[in-house]
Amino acid sequence: MKILVICKVVFICLFFISCNGQTSSKTGSNRIVGGGCDGCELMYIGMPKEIHSVDTSAGWNEKGQRLIVTGTVFQLDGKTPAKDVIIYYWQTDNDGYYSPKAGMDERTKRHGHIRGWVKTDANGKYTIKTIRPAPYPNDVLPAHIHLSIKEPDIENEYYTDEINFDEDKLLIPHFKKYPQENRGGSGVVRVLLNDNLQIAEHNIILGLNIPNYPKKINNEKISGLDIGEEQL
Ligand SMILES: [Fe+2]
Repeated sequence: MKILVICKVVFICLFFISCNGQTSSKTGSNRIVGGGCDGCELMYIGMPKEIHSVDTSAGWNEKGQRLIVTGTVFQLDGKTPAKDVIIYYWQTDNDGYYSPKAGMDERTKRHGHIRGWVKTDANGKYTIKTIRPAPYPNDVLPAHIHLSIKEPDIENEYYTDEINFDEDKLLIPHFKKYPQENRGGSGVVRVLLNDNLQIAEHNIILGLNIPNYPKKINNEKISGLDIGEEQL
């Protein structure tokens, strides 16, 4: 019994540490793309040399509602598919804990054992096979999946909006308090049920609402005058 209580305390600490680190450092370096992110750098620990566009998480074969998250990653213009972008994800288990597994690197235990990587294919597509994360026990945060992005030609990783689920009752009260940042676009997904499998589409626009993002949209004028511009 005593061991069980200690374990629960450890798990609770782990998930609070994990989420508190998922905030941008608005006062931090103005050179870091994304403004900084405590925890995103853990994506490099245990990262396989070869990453595929489809990944099956450790949660897939555990208790819980199976979920497939799939989508396209676009460049900042919102149209051009972005290939070779690494997406690192981490999430709670079916009980709402970032539950570590024996043998995990100590540094990554705060992300729990349901963590993994995908790399977008030539069409910018990716697919993550996992389970629905549960909200933290006795808490008000909606269920979510964290994402950290590493582009091939951007020096550092940055986080995008967490994946949230549109039917989550905790979502609206949370957004009233903490409006979405829309980093990379909205993280809220609509879940479709296909037999016993849930499917959610989540597209990401690289650099959208990401501080210090070095790339710009090409706004080259094609024709016409701006309003108020005089004709010569
Ligand atoms: Fe979290």
